[in-house]
Amino acid sequence: MENFTFYSPTFFAFGKDTEEQAGSLIKRFGGTKALIHYGGSSARKSGLLDRITASLEKAGVPYELLGGVQPNPRSGLVYRGIELCRKEKIDFVLAVGGGSVIDSAKAIAAGTVYDGDFWDFYTGKRIEEALPVGTVLTIAAAGSEGSPDSVITKEEGMFKRGASGDAIRPKFSILNPALTQTLPPYQTAAGITDIMAHLYERYLTNSKEVEVTDRLIEALLLTMIHEGPRVIENPNNYEARANIMWAGMMAHNNSCGVGRSQDWNSHNIEHELSALYDCAHGAGLAVTLPAVFTYVMNHDVMRFAKAAVRVWGCQMDFDHPEVTALEGIEKLRQFFISIGMPRNFAELGAEEEDIPTLVRALCWGDGRQGSISGFVTLDESDCEKIYRLML
Ligand code: NZQ
Ligand code: ZN
Repeated sequence: MENFTFYSPTFFAFGKDTEEQAGSLIKRFGGTKALIHYGGSSARKSGLLDRITASLEKAGVPYELLGGVQPNPRSGLVYRGIELCRKEKIDFVLAVGGGSVIDSAKAIAAGTVYDGDFWDFYTGKRIEEALPVGTVLTIAAAGSEGSPDSVITKEEGMFKRGASGDAIRPKFSILNPALTQTLPPYQTAAGITDIMAHLYERYLTNSKEVEVTDRLIEALLLTMIHEGPRVIENPNNYEARANIMWAGMMAHNNSCGVGRSQDWNSHNIEHELSALYDCAHGAGLAVTLPAVFTYVMNHDVMRFAKAAVRVWGCQMDFDHPEVTALEGIEKLRQFFISIGMPRNFAELGAEEEDIPTLVRALCWGDGRQGSISGFVTLDESDCEKIYRLML
């Protein structure tokens, strides 16, 4: 295991009706005027937004509203949010929505107290300071409710990039699994896929002797394999939704990623797909993961075989571990298909003729130097072959 530091001070309020605590939690964490940031229509339609504003009014916290965050959130709305926060002297940003809303809120929170262009943070500058952020989560997926990360798409060039820093870890996150019951099945499935991807990105490591985090990851993957189909079959299954919601948080607040190198090549490869086609991030991952894993498997075939045996229940073939490894990857692919995710480029809405564009943006876009690295280093030719495996 490698040396690490881990600082994850988010306060979680989990369970039914917890959104009623939004106002009092903002006060508890020092907010005196809030920006309530939300997405398209779901929070308004479900009545959640009204319950949130009522909670702030009851706690005596004045607020401004800024809605309209779209999935794969854009820089344009972030600039508007920064301007609004400065003008209205806002000192707390409350995100009501999914990963896209939370990431946009984090970008606004960091940009408001920064002299330069907030995009600097998305080209490598670490976020050291930000307004405090709170979240009311409405979809179990991105894990942004417990993570120090934010992913934004810059309209000029459609670059989708991430920024990081403990300053943007939410001060509190309200997780009411019942709020996710209104999700369309496709979004529920995309969320399940993203959670599993966050686990696999950590599982693919070059670090030795990391049994505790290996076992944590395997436990969370087994939970997703058990609960995923139950919630797809019955969207009102509160208990399954609850287990998925907490697994989603644990998958990405890095408690199971400490002390080990991590991959993230699949996420980088997928981000080009959701940037170009505006597809759901999880749907892009369903197509990406099996392709990447098949391509890089031989770098450490025993790691893939271990996942196949421990997570997918495959029999270990000691003479041909690559057979076991491939079997595990195939089970993962079939699982994604079984919950309604796309299986290839065509089902995702991606086009073969765009592969050169995807590869260029991935390997050279916004400061990259011709390759991406994680579990293995992938150059342009590798990335092209991986996108072709998705056809
Ligand atoms: O905009 P509304 O109307 O709210 O609709 C949203 C949106 O269309 C809808 N939705 C959310 N909650 C709902 C609901 N519909 C009905 N009932 C509800 N309760 O779902 C759609 C997707 O929402 P979005 O926030 O985009 O989903 P998700 O949480 O999957 O976030 C995806 C974004 O997070 C980034 C992704 O790249 C993508 O941009 N990621 C962020 C990470 C992080 N900050 O740590 C890590 C992840 O790997 C990921 O990259
Ligand atoms: Zn993700």
